[in-house]
Amino acid sequence: MRRKIAAGNWKMFGTVADLSQIAAIATGADKAVDTLICPPATLIAAAAPHAAASFAIGGQDCHPLQSGAYTGEISALMLRDAGATHVIVGHSERRRDHAETNDLVRAKAGAALEAGLTAVICVGESLEQREAGITLDAITAELEASLPEGCVGGNTIVAYEPLWAVGTGLIPTPQQIAEVHGRIRAILRARFGHEAEMIRILYGGSVKASNAAEIFAAADVDGALVGGASLKAADFLPIIAALA
Ligand code: G3H
Repeated sequence: MRRKIAAGNWKMFGTVADLSQIAAIATGADKAVDTLICPPATLIAAAAPHAAASFAIGGQDCHPLQSGAYTGEISALMLRDAGATHVIVGHSERRRDHAETNDLVRAKAGAALEAGLTAVICVGESLEQREAGITLDAITAELEASLPEGCVGGNTIVAYEPLWAVGTGLIPTPQQIAEVHGRIRAILRARFGHEAEMIRILYGGSVKASNAAEIFAAADVDGALVGGASLKAADFLPIIAALA
């Protein structure tokens, strides 16, 4: 039985003043659901004391190595040292803006597992792939190449985020979400056997309080990876509640 999880990706939003939102989310989140906030790296150490049994703090990216002469980079070990327990890897904005390949994403996910973090591995099709009818093939290729060895329920989460749904207000139908999540589950089973049953699969892309219940009713949806609607407790708490 997989616990539901509501993950918030704050992207490049949030300053010290916004720690009050993290405190409000930590306090107000339904404890029947796991909640994860991934703030900018600058806030992780200050946010980490809010971590509890069902509330976690994560990073938004990590380097594939744990240390070295890589100016501006942050390693998975450093995230863990700052109090993070999770890290997002392969987000579409990283793949798009930083030319991150599947090989790099797989290396980053492997570094996360090596450091003892849970990797939130993101995949998603482009609008062109969706319209060409090759969504499942695209997801299969991307996920198979992005998964490191050794994924189990306790160290891996997969997030399905169609690129055309991120920050656009557009969302797939529940049937389209269920179809992709079913394919992701099949890929995980083929690769990791019975452990695949414990790996949670999240939907991400324009999730809001008003559409959360419909999305969460789709088959094989274990939660959400939320961007804009995770920045304020008033917006995020109803989404968390919809998962309970
Ligand atoms: O990581 C979160 C996703 O990119 C979704 O962002 O909820 O603002 O569409 P959004």
